[in-house]
Amino acid sequence: MGKIISCKAYDIYINEADALNTMIQKLNPSRIFVLVDENTGQHCLHHLIANLDQPFTTITIPAGESFKNIDTCKQVWTALIETKADRKSLLINLGGGVIGDLGGFCAATYMRGITFIQMPTTLLSQVDASVGGKLGVDFDGYKNMVGLFSEPAAVIINTEFLKTLPYKELLSGYAELLKHGLIADEGIWEQLSSIDDITGLDFEQVVYDSVKIKKEVTEQDPTEKGLRKILNFGHTIGHAIETLSFKTDQPLLHGEAIAIGMIMESYLAKEKGFISDDAYEYIKSSIINLYGHKYKSVPKVDDIIAIMLLDKKNAQGKIMFSLLEEIGKANFNQEVDYELIEKARENYMN
Ligand SMILES: NC(=O)c1ccc[n+]([C@@H]2O[C@H](COP(=O)([O-])OP(=O)(O)OC[C@H]3O[C@@H](n4cnc5c(N)ncnc54)[C@H](O)[C@@H]3O)[C@@H](O)[C@H]2O)c1
Ligand SMILES: [Zn+2]
Repeated sequence: MGKIISCKAYDIYINEADALNTMIQKLNPSRIFVLVDENTGQHCLHHLIANLDQPFTTITIPAGESFKNIDTCKQVWTALIETKADRKSLLINLGGGVIGDLGGFCAATYMRGITFIQMPTTLLSQVDASVGGKLGVDFDGYKNMVGLFSEPAAVIINTEFLKTLPYKELLSGYAELLKHGLIADEGIWEQLSSIDDITGLDFEQVVYDSVKIKKEVTEQDPTEKGLRKILNFGHTIGHAIETLSFKTDQPLLHGEAIAIGMIMESYLAKEKGFISDDAYEYIKSSIINLYGHKYKSVPKVDDIIAIMLLDKKNAQGKIMFSLLEEIGKANFNQEVDYELIEKARENYMN
């Protein structure tokens, strides 16, 4: 039994066994290409080999964020050209957010755009990266600096893929589910935050709930003029901490940094009078219960602010936050004094 979420331009299928073959029949592509990285080639590709009714060509790239760049795109474009992919070809992106963002970008630009299907295989990409049409690669040290908005023909999610995902990656992706609950649905937050062992979850249900939130927010504001900014909750500080962690001997996964960011930004919401002391303590203890106290010493606020000011979302020396109004509701375009960020940092460390 699967689930379907209908978006304006395409559908998202969760554990719908026939979805891929049905979609391919409908699209009737001239050729099928499947993009994988070394890990999804090993752990996920066999699923397509066993289930796809039609022949396909596999393109493999190295795994990891450090390969989400234009050089790797060149490899993909070259592979498409050398195997004579034409305008009616289909690219299936089988992998995590790196494969989805990079593969989608390559497809949307190859011959001015060929059809692509997202098959996300990490928890993060199933509930976040594969929905909302943002595609692109990192450039010159800046994350997601080059890219575009373009919609896939379909997003096909199989939660069975999560079984081979390292636990650390699963937990990292879980931060986005917690975020979706905190910004949009108190009931979902309560359910997700009260769990001690996430491996036993009914992923079909929780992925469905989370994708639905992301879909509803992004459809109301596809190009991030306003409401979509609430999805940045936890990410303004979290992303800066993630970036700074790469220069240390304790690099953090995205979700680990976002977990800290959500705690610190909830502190900002408390200090601005949006959420109560109790709500803040509840959020902090629940997140630490799941993620532990990752950073005994969070990077210095000056360093965090320097990174935040480089972010393309912030302009003219002002850092804009998306903060919780209450558990289950968020706002955006909130300016915060730098001293408050320092207080949030001290509070997290204690
Ligand atoms: N487009 C968007 O809206 C959006 C949103 C959030 C994040 N992102 C992007 O997503 C990327 C992060 O995504 P991610 O966390 O999925 O990273 P990822 O694609 O690097 O995957 C994480 C690791 O898990 C491996 N892997 C993937 N599926 C597996 C499976 N089923 N079994 C075993 N190993 C598996 C990968 O090879 C990789 O080593 C970032 O580049 C980020 O910018 C995009
Ligand atoms: Zn994120």
